[in-house]
Amino acid sequence: MKEEPFYIRPATENDLDAIDAMEGESFLSPWPRDIFRKEMQLSFSRSFAAAENKSADNIPVGYIFFWIIDQEMQLHRLAVKKTRQRQGIGSLLLQEMINTCRSEGITDGFLEVRASNQNAINLYQKAGFTVAGVRKGYYDDTREDALIMKCTVKQP
Ligand SMILES: CC(C)(COP(=O)(O)OP(=O)(O)OC[C@H]1O[C@@H](n2cnc3c(N)ncnc32)[C@H](O)[C@@H]1OP(=O)(O)O)[C@@H](O)C(=O)NCCC(=O)NCCS
Repeated sequence: MKEEPFYIRPATENDLDAIDAMEGESFLSPWPRDIFRKEMQLSFSRSFAAAENKSADNIPVGYIFFWIIDQEMQLHRLAVKKTRQRQGIGSLLLQEMINTCRSEGITDGFLEVRASNQNAINLYQKAGFTVAGVRKGYYDDTREDALIMKCTVKQP
């Protein structure tokens, strides 16, 4: 059987250097590493990393952070290393999030995305999210609007 190129595992503090580097290349206003460290300690926060099967070093090439709170999933961070984009990693990470919702009995999920981030919007739509509203001028750095996207997770 053909080996999958990437696998998903829980994110740990050992991943912070790699996450920090990916944040810097991915976001206009990167989160400081302390936020990620704190997120990993919150009982309602879930975090996963994607790594490469062909590489023995286990260094992440993508990550996802979300909350499961008040019977709802809220996606807070998702990024894939620039040199590994468009290889299905973002979709794998989203699938892990949806599987987690399913195993925890969560049906409703929400996220915010910059209205100009068409790549991410395409990814979310492909994963079953739909636009549910707009937050005008939501982002402090550019005053850009956020699209609110929603998904309904089918339970088994
Ligand atoms: C958005 C992001 C996470 C996508 O990750 P990825 O691993 O490249 O995504 P995938 O390979 O799983 O792509 C799945 C789908 O997303 C869409 N997509 C992803 N990258 C795209 C691009 N450059 N152009 C157009 N559509 C794109 C496509 O619909 C794609 O399906 P297809 O390849 O069959 O056409 C990645 O581009 C990224 O890290 N961007 C910077 C950080 C960011 O914007 N995060 C989201 C914040 S809300």
